Amino acid sequence: MNKPEIILNVFSSIDGKITTAPNRNVMEWTAAGIDGEANDVTHRLYDELDCDGLVSGSESLIVWGNDWVELEKSIYEPGKSKAYIVFDGKGRIDWSQTEGLLVVTREDVSGDYIEQLESKRISYLQAGRGDYIDLPLALHKLYDSGFRRLGLSGGGGINGAFLRQGLIDEVSLVIAPLAIGGTATPSIFDSPDLTDLGGAARLELKTMKAVGEGSVWLHYKVK
Ligand SMILES: NC(=O)c1ccc[n+]([C@@H]2O[C@H](COP(=O)([O-])OP(=O)(O)OC[C@H]3O[C@@H](n4cnc5c(N)ncnc54)[C@H](OP(=O)(O)O)[C@@H]3O)[C@@H](O)[C@H]2O)c1
Repeated sequence: MNKPEIILNVFSSIDGKITTAPNRNVMEWTAAGIDGEANDVTHRLYDELDCDGLVSGSESLIVWGNDWVELEKSIYEPGKSKAYIVFDGKGRIDWSQTEGLLVVTREDVSGDYIEQLESKRISYLQAGRGDYIDLPLALHKLYDSGFRRLGLSGGGGINGAFLRQGLIDEVSLVIAPLAIGGTATPSIFDSPDLTDLGGAARLELKTMKAVGEGSVWLHYKVK
């Protein structure tokens, strides 16, 4: 089945945390000026890496909506991306910003949710039934819609699901000069624990570079 290439493109602390604590908006690192410009650099990388769409999970959007952080200086807007694609399998988001939006949801999501998407003229596609979206099927449908290189932008839940299903082709990680700690804090890949080493994704380093103000960019191919 054809699928777009998936490039995970996120920023994290040195210990792989992608936000301060559960249910916190990572934009607060940027607003406080302590992220070493990792957020802005990550947004520029979507274009450098030729991403034609940006994918994110439902929980990220819900957290950002409930914990809005105003930035003094706006961050770079990717120019090559043709859509902001949100995987909202359970149909939990009440949409206000609809420009450039493409929603991916389940085939058995509630009728009310489909009504919301249609009445707000939001583009959507459906893949799979049951607990979660069928990710390979969703990616196949996105390929058929013309997408060839998608930037996967988190959070940890959606990144972890893509990783466990072997759907990530490249990893682009900007490490901010921060150590966060915590046990329940979202990290780059939140997924069920491995049962043996064979499940570890092996990576091949392509680029390693100092970026922003004290951040580091690592770009890998997944073997
Ligand atoms: N540093 C960064 O670059 C960055 C980027 C983005 C977000 N963040 C931070 O990350 C936090 C949110 O992260 P999160 O991990 O809570 O949220 P998330 O990844 O946005 O939400 C979990 C997502 O994973 C999906 N999912 C889970 N298991 C799955 C499976 N087995 N198959 C298919 N889909 C599956 C869920 O589907 P359903 O929709 O069906 O539930 C949901 O869409 C926020 O605090 C935000 O600030 C940081």
